[in-house]
Amino acid sequence: MEEIKYIDPEADPEHQVIPKHVAVIMDGNGRWAQQRGLPRLAGHRQGASVVRKITTEACRLGIEYLTLYSFSSQNWGRPLAEVTGLMELLYDFCGREEETLIKNNVQLQVIGKLDRMPSATRKAVQRLCSVTEKYDGMRLTLALDYGGREELTRAVQAIASEVASGAIEPHQIDEETIRNRLDSSDLPDPDLLIRTSGERRLSNFLAWQSAYSELYFTPVFWPDFSERHLYEALTDFGKRQRRFGGITELNRNVAAKKSYA
Ligand code: IPE
Ligand code: IPE
Ligand code: MG
Repeated sequence: MEEIKYIDPEADPEHQVIPKHVAVIMDGNGRWAQQRGLPRLAGHRQGASVVRKITTEACRLGIEYLTLYSFSSQNWGRPLAEVTGLMELLYDFCGREEETLIKNNVQLQVIGKLDRMPSATRKAVQRLCSVTEKYDGMRLTLALDYGGREELTRAVQAIASEVASGAIEPHQIDEETIRNRLDSSDLPDPDLLIRTSGERRLSNFLAWQSAYSELYFTPVFWPDFSERHLYEALTDFGKRQRRFGGITELNRNVAAKKSYA
C-alpha cells in the first residue's frame, strides 16, 4: 500500500485505528450551496465529487466497508426539481465512477429500494453493482431510498410470512433472524458513524445496525469534507472506549488495528 502522508502529531500511535466499517450521513449540500448563492443542486453536484475523493481515501486507508446515506425514503418529499436533479446526478455518478471503482477494487452495493427510482437511474445503479460484483477490495454501499424504519418493517413482514407459512416458530425469532432479513444482512455493523453539517441526529439511518456505533458529528458541510476531516474522525474514533455494555474496552476486537501515520 502507498505510504500515507498524513501524520497526526497529536494522536498517540496506539490510538490510530482503522475501523472496519465506516458509515456516513452526507449532509449539508443545500446549505453549502445557499451560502454561496448557488442553487441547492450545485451543492449536490459538489457533494457527489466528494464521494469519489472519500471513497478513494477510504480504500487507501484499508477501510473494508464504507456506507453512504445518499437518498433517504423521506427525501422523496423534497421539491420535484431537486429530487429529479438528484436522480440525474446518481445516474451520472454511475457512468462516471465505474473506472475509479474498478481501479480501486471496489464492489458497489445498495441498501434501500430501487423500484421507485426513474428506470434509467435504477438500471445504471444495477449495472454498476453487477459490473463491480467481482471486486473485493472495499465494499461501497449506497443507501438509496433508504429508511431504517422502512427496512425494519420489511424485515418484520418477511418474518411474519415465514411464521404464517410455518417455516419458523415465533419463539425461534432471535436477533439473527432479524439481522438476516435486513438489507444490510451481509454487512458488519458500522464501527464509526459520521454525520456532517452540524446536525446531531440519525435521520432514520441504520436504525438497527447503529446500536453500538461510535457517533461522530462535524460542523463541516459534506461538499467541504476532505481527507483531513476523515482523518480527524478516525483519530477521534481511535480514542473511544467501546464497551458494548461490559466494563472492558473492546475497541481492538472489533476494528482492524492499523497505523495510518
Ligand atoms: C444531504 O444534503 C443530501 C441529501 C439529503 C440528498 P442536504 O440536501 O440535506 O443539505 P442541507 O441539509 O439542506 O444543507
Ligand atoms: C439525511 O439528511 C439523508 C441524507 C443525508 C441522504 P436529511 O437532510 O434528509 O435529514 P434531516 O431532514 O435534516 O433530518
Ligand atoms: Mg440535510
